[in-house]
Amino acid sequence: MNKLTNMVRPGTVAVVGASSKQGKIGHTVLNNIISCGYKGKIYPINPKETEIEGIQAYQSVADLPEPIDLAVIAVPASLVPGVVEDCGRIGVKYLVIITAGFKEIGAEGLEMEKKIIETCREHGMRLLGPNVVGFIDTHTPINASFAATFPQKGEIAFLSQSGAMLVAILDWSLSSGLGFSKVVSLGNKADLSEIDFIEDAADDPNTKVILCYIEDIVDGPRFLDVASRAACKKPVIVIKSGTSQAGAQAASSHTGALAGSDLAYDVAFRQCGVIRARSMTELFNLAVAFARSPVPAGKKVAIITNSGGPGIIATDNVENYGLQMARFTKDTIDALRGTLPVEANVYNPVDVLGDAKADRYRFALQKVCADPNVDSVVVLMCPTGVTQPVETSQAILEAKKAYPEKPILAAYMGGETLARGSAMLAEGGVPCFTFPEPAISCISGLVRYNEMLQKQEEAAAQMSRIDQKGAKAVFYDVIKDNRLVLLGSEAAEVANCYGIPVAPTVLATTPEEAALEADKMGYPVVMKVASPKILHKTDVGGVIVGLKNSDEVRRAYLEIMDNVYGYMPQAVVYGVEVQKMMPKGTELIIGMTKDIQFGPLVGFGLGGIYVNLLKDVSFRLARGLTSGEVEKMLQETKAYTLLRGYRGEKPRDIAALTDVILRVAALVNDFPEITEMDINPVFAYEEGLSALDIKITIS
Ligand code: COA
Repeated sequence: MNKLTNMVRPGTVAVVGASSKQGKIGHTVLNNIISCGYKGKIYPINPKETEIEGIQAYQSVADLPEPIDLAVIAVPASLVPGVVEDCGRIGVKYLVIITAGFKEIGAEGLEMEKKIIETCREHGMRLLGPNVVGFIDTHTPINASFAATFPQKGEIAFLSQSGAMLVAILDWSLSSGLGFSKVVSLGNKADLSEIDFIEDAADDPNTKVILCYIEDIVDGPRFLDVASRAACKKPVIVIKSGTSQAGAQAASSHTGALAGSDLAYDVAFRQCGVIRARSMTELFNLAVAFARSPVPAGKKVAIITNSGGPGIIATDNVENYGLQMARFTKDTIDALRGTLPVEANVYNPVDVLGDAKADRYRFALQKVCADPNVDSVVVLMCPTGVTQPVETSQAILEAKKAYPEKPILAAYMGGETLARGSAMLAEGGVPCFTFPEPAISCISGLVRYNEMLQKQEEAAAQMSRIDQKGAKAVFYDVIKDNRLVLLGSEAAEVANCYGIPVAPTVLATTPEEAALEADKMGYPVVMKVASPKILHKTDVGGVIVGLKNSDEVRRAYLEIMDNVYGYMPQAVVYGVEVQKMMPKGTELIIGMTKDIQFGPLVGFGLGGIYVNLLKDVSFRLARGLTSGEVEKMLQETKAYTLLRGYRGEKPRDIAALTDVILRVAALVNDFPEITEMDINPVFAYEEGLSALDIKITIS
């Protein structure tokens, strides 16, 4: 049982502000609960009534005879704080505050909303709202809302930050035949938000697809966590409108324009496996596709059409949506050629011609669906004097039954003549549209979801060889030493724990120790002063390179100490770091900074001294980063051209680089206390990588 189970399946419900007067919200809410078939106990609350709709009414929640799971509040805003207090006192578990007039009206409303949240926290009550239409669960059933319609039972959970959008969709759903498991109006999200309901819907056996209309996300990191877990269980499709204030402010910070912008949402959704719809139409088209179609094995689409033009348009769409036209096997082509008229096109798109009746569609469907090179099928039909929409729909439904693993979608391009045929398809679970584009866009959504699932699995498998405890111990020692900046040797140890290849780096506190360590790691070595306060070591004579034997190392130790104390007599010096000098490779930078909304961002680009000049860096959110995303991230930079082998140079080890970026992402995800991290430079070789200088700052 998850934490919202008692809310959506309450045993007892109080309606505060229940009214016997038709047309009042309190009347509608009470009636909705009664008429939806709710089986629990209902308590109308109204100081002036003793009975409403034949049910005994109570003057106040304080008078109720038994504990209440859910109280739906529809009294004027000024009365809400008092009612919430009363609810808290009698131990109500969940509140739905329908009343408007809080945060959304300004400072006064915000104050009142804060007061309500405080009371809820004090009494351990969870709150939906204020400023909501309410919620509906068709399987309980309960209709704790003032919506005019109760939707059909279905498998789609719809969460909406806009109440108006929600009621409009409910109304439309009745004519479209779409069913819902749950419908939730999120309102001001003072307590419960889309995150809680996504979490709930992910575990709800009655929900197959989660749809969200949101305007903002209040807790980015939690959204990423919850949504990525939910997306592994079932598709989460989101439409996001508006841009965030917080993000706009953050644009002036270090993270740059990515944070909080629409792009950040784009990246965040993609990385946590959320499918982003660009319009309400697409949102619901995708919902229908996910609710009714299997997820295809790949991106190869076959098209069957009775006219050339729509076939070409669909083919263009296939390409535009990143899908591929299937290439049929010889058997399929031979079979189609043997039976279809000679004028028919037997390659993809298959054109069964304008005079095709249902039998030609049936034959083409059977052959195309059976082809192992076909992952999904789109059937197009334009009405001619001889088309048989009903019989063709029958043939499509037969194919769906025979090939349950392949999505079949249709576009019946017309109106009246095709209405019965398309209704049959909708009833039989085949998404049917008026034009090809939405059908192709839906297949693209299904394919993206499948790819995301595969990538999540691969990412989990990749993250072996991580010693989180070891890294934690290093951070613990740094904090114990009252520092926030790690020494190079400490940062190298952390990197080692996370499998990030780093040039051997050891701290020595005497010339003798330095010589011993250098002997162990082999020559040549470089020596660097170890002091968290000295940021530019070279400027104070704190770095000596190319040391070839132990005598040189001993001398270098003393020279560095002399130099540093000469420049900075007060400096706290921990010793000198001895690092193996690595052969020169392509200089790269891998770093981390924080996005105000979604947490750590991993950056990659050309490294070395030109990093600030060239600004050749691309970013991704660390959370949910997959190798596929890293690949795209690399491709966005000019450095990628070098890595692939520029002007006859051998290509660098892109697989190793991808692995290191994923490991940096894992490290910064595991340790939120890391505020900044830079690996600059990282040398990339034909085989492998070596991190030379790692800076880590914690808070
Ligand atoms: N406990 C219980 N009932 C109480 C009460 C109390 N302490 N104090 C008053 N009531 C009763 C009233 O007597 C009235 O009952 P009646 O119809 O029998 O007279 C009922 O509660 C409602 O109070 P009323 O003053 O008539 O308010 P209202 O119905 O005109 O408006 C709201 C109340 C909540 C509908 C209104 O304030 C509101 O917020 N409307 C907008 C809702 C909205 O748009 N939400 C967001 C959707 S996206």
